[in-house]
Amino acid sequence: MGKALDGVKILDFTHVQSGPTCTQLLAWFGADVIKVEKAGEGDATRGQLRDIPDVDSLYFTMLNHNKRSITLDTKNPKGKEVLIELIKQCDVLVENFAPGALDRMGFSWERIQQINPRMIMASVKGFGPGPYEDCKVYENVAQCAGGAASTTGFDDGPPLVTGAQIGDSGTGLHLALGIVTALFQREKTGKGQKVLAAMQDAVLNLCRVKLRDQQRLDRTKVLQEYPQFPETEFGEAVPRAGNASGGGQPGWILKCKGWQHDPNAYIYFITQAPVWASICKVIGEESWITDPSYATPKARLPHLKTIFSRIEEWTKTKTKFEAMEILNKYDIPCGPILSMKEIAEEPALRATGTVVEVDHPKRGKYLSVGNPIKLSDSETEVTRSPLLGEHTEEVLAQLGYSKDQVEELRAAKVI
Ligand code: COA
Repeated sequence: MGKALDGVKILDFTHVQSGPTCTQLLAWFGADVIKVEKAGEGDATRGQLRDIPDVDSLYFTMLNHNKRSITLDTKNPKGKEVLIELIKQCDVLVENFAPGALDRMGFSWERIQQINPRMIMASVKGFGPGPYEDCKVYENVAQCAGGAASTTGFDDGPPLVTGAQIGDSGTGLHLALGIVTALFQREKTGKGQKVLAAMQDAVLNLCRVKLRDQQRLDRTKVLQEYPQFPETEFGEAVPRAGNASGGGQPGWILKCKGWQHDPNAYIYFITQAPVWASICKVIGEESWITDPSYATPKARLPHLKTIFSRIEEWTKTKTKFEAMEILNKYDIPCGPILSMKEIAEEPALRATGTVVEVDHPKRGKYLSVGNPIKLSDSETEVTRSPLLGEHTEEVLAQLGYSKDQVEELRAAKVI
């Protein structure tokens, strides 16, 4: 079976997490991704957070599946010549260098367009044009500057970052969409274009409900579904909402049986309006179905703490999985708090290819995420990440370099 992006060639100049997430997705969809790495060093993540000495880290292997790796000193004149050939032959150049690095290397957007007018140049940067455009940015900086941290956590604690890498992987996803969109437009125009995904913008896009709440707060001075209501006055900015649901159906995380010794014996419980009567029956509070203080969603808002603490009395008598089974019979939306250990061992996630086991020549078998986006006509086979420079000779040969020329480049430490 063919793949959706068969025939698309990606010059992958990415490193760390945000850019590699994007190019890994494109590779999973069938693109030929050629990762260019600094000779002798490679992507810094190869050596970061290692669990086995001298073996590419899981950080690297889990972000660089299905790619080819070539080493190239792109600051050396001979290396630049190779890069020019790659630019001529590829469809997309993806990079997430610090601002200005590509220009300093001598490859401005104008130059790239001259070399290949069909080239799509896609970049991740920390910030878009503005006061911070020259800043280097990592994940948590983006979470802070994109509005996530100020709205995550509890009211009486500091801002919090989330475990989900919305700044890096989140921006990589945005960039991948920008790239395939530009490829689609190129079908009609024949021209390449520049694609930019700024990490601050991507995080804000994912935090849009909080920008919604900011405007509601400006207008009404209160957010009735937030845990601060009705006891605490609201300030000028959207406060941290703990585990409150971001939508119109109130929810909270509740203890389940075993919570005293298991940090993940919890369930997320949503008091969805259409199933209110069922919730009352399950927890044994049938009078709440008709009691005017509880009967409507609006009437319930000032009593959410009482309601959730009563539901928790019930959930504490069940394990999170028992509670799930009972609640699902009544279509009550809920979800167990799954630990990473439980997720790693979940057979259903293995069956769908969302979690995959991959074999690596130096590391042996390891677990990784597979493609979270399923296409019925373009199945993803997850192959291992490349060793540093594993495909240098193969790629140079495809560019037309002879064995002797390759040896010269190696002797001059260009590759
Ligand atoms: N050959 C020669 N030089 C190379 C090279 C190669 N193959 N690949 C990279 N380099 C050079 C770059 O040209 C740059 O040189 P310069 O500073 O002299 O211009 C240098 O290596 C370092 O690149 P840089 O991107 O600045 O790396 P860094 O480790 O200092 O910074 C980041 C890392 C992530 C902070 C930075 O790249 C960044 O802000 N990127 C944009 C935002 C981003 O993606 N952040 C998320 C990362 S998950």
